Amino acid sequence: MICDNLTALDGVLHFAGQNTLALAQEYGTPLYVMDEDRIRTNCRTYKKALETFYGPEAMPLYAGKAASFTRLIKIIKEEGFGLDVVSAGEIATAKNADFPMEHAYFHSNNKTDADIALAMDCGIGYFVADNVEEVDAVNAIAGEKGIRQKILLRLTPGIDPHTYAAVATGKVDSKFGSAIETGQAEEITAHALSLSNIDLAGFHCHVGSQVFDSDVFLRASEIMLEFISHIRARFGYTARMLDLGGGYGVRYVDSDPVSDISANIAQVASAVKAKCAELSLPLPALRMEPGRSIVADAGITLYTAGTVKKIPGYKNYVSVDGGMTDNPRFALYGSSYTVLNAGKLNEDCDFECSVVGRCCESGDILQENVKMPSSVGRGDIIAVLTTGAYNYSMSSNYTRIPRPPIVMVSREKSQVSLAVRRETAQDVLSLDL
Ligand code: LLP
Repeated sequence: MICDNLTALDGVLHFAGQNTLALAQEYGTPLYVMDEDRIRTNCRTYKKALETFYGPEAMPLYAGKAASFTRLIKIIKEEGFGLDVVSAGEIATAKNADFPMEHAYFHSNNKTDADIALAMDCGIGYFVADNVEEVDAVNAIAGEKGIRQKILLRLTPGIDPHTYAAVATGKVDSKFGSAIETGQAEEITAHALSLSNIDLAGFHCHVGSQVFDSDVFLRASEIMLEFISHIRARFGYTARMLDLGGGYGVRYVDSDPVSDISANIAQVASAVKAKCAELSLPLPALRMEPGRSIVADAGITLYTAGTVKKIPGYKNYVSVDGGMTDNPRFALYGSSYTVLNAGKLNEDCDFECSVVGRCCESGDILQENVKMPSSVGRGDIIAVLTTGAYNYSMSSNYTRIPRPPIVMVSREKSQVSLAVRRETAQDVLSLDL
């Protein structure tokens, strides 16, 4: 199996020690299941590697956009991570989890004045300021509130991360950040340094997501440190913090490579240290912002199969009771997933089909070219693996379909409990006046 929290017992898929058919029976489908122990193990891998290879001045921040709900953010807090938030909703979730807001970093390319004021009122640690307008707005609102706000400036180092276009953000042509190559990064730095309510702590970049090429991160760190050195020579200002963003890839299917997070961090840490030594720069506090690699393999989604449609000479369809509303990633990016018939793991898989959702939309596909047992039929439980990241957080109520619940499983605590309840039609209706 693609992750060691998945096992087959008597032909039945078990996840984090739980029988998935029993979970589906008890909580209904569609159902997101999350493995708390796996989230904690992933957090600890980052924490330990950063401490071991870089030192106490390194801190991982969890990128809440991958998945954000109160129970999860409490786990992130307990694991000693900082937090990357991108919206008022994620800030509210952090507050609800009693997250120490001084360790929260507020991203996004277009924060409204209301967002900025709210984040300051919550005592946010850092703004990751994307552009000049934002720097000015943060300066003005900080002035009104009588504070000096710490910020990082988001820069684009001009790197192609070799991933799919929608998540490649480090190139010069990006809606995010100021490009080093065009001179805009230097301009915004000079501007931030001139403002009295801004405390420029350092610089941030995020080159992309689902990245397997570790050279990308090494190159990014070198370019960022060369920029920091250039800025020191130009303005006499030395950055205290370097944030290299998130992006390490995870395995969705057997053919995806395995990322060794510890080894990657060891490489990045030694590249940063070597470059700082070369440029005679003091070591900056280091931040990394993993999202996907913390939660992706800690999640699966369970569905119940409905209609099986066979079109002789064309193809076959297996419809499930969820779809693009709980996982839009195939529809958006053509993302690969491993799909299993959770109760029939012992049967041969000789029936090729598309596994599709129940929205009135042809593009509502979870995965194509899936191999299922030929006995697949109404009532079977279908599992999609590695759905912990960018599924719940990207879910929608398209066609007024309520969102699934999240059940959290912990083998260590011998616990299975709902962390997010199932939405009802009444929840969906509740905003209608
Ligand atoms: N930091 C920043 C500034 C980011 O923009 C992102 C992701 C991360 C950290 C976390 O990256 P990760 O470690 O999760 O790769 N919806 C897309 C992914 C969008 C990623 C956006 N930014 C997907 O489903 O693949």
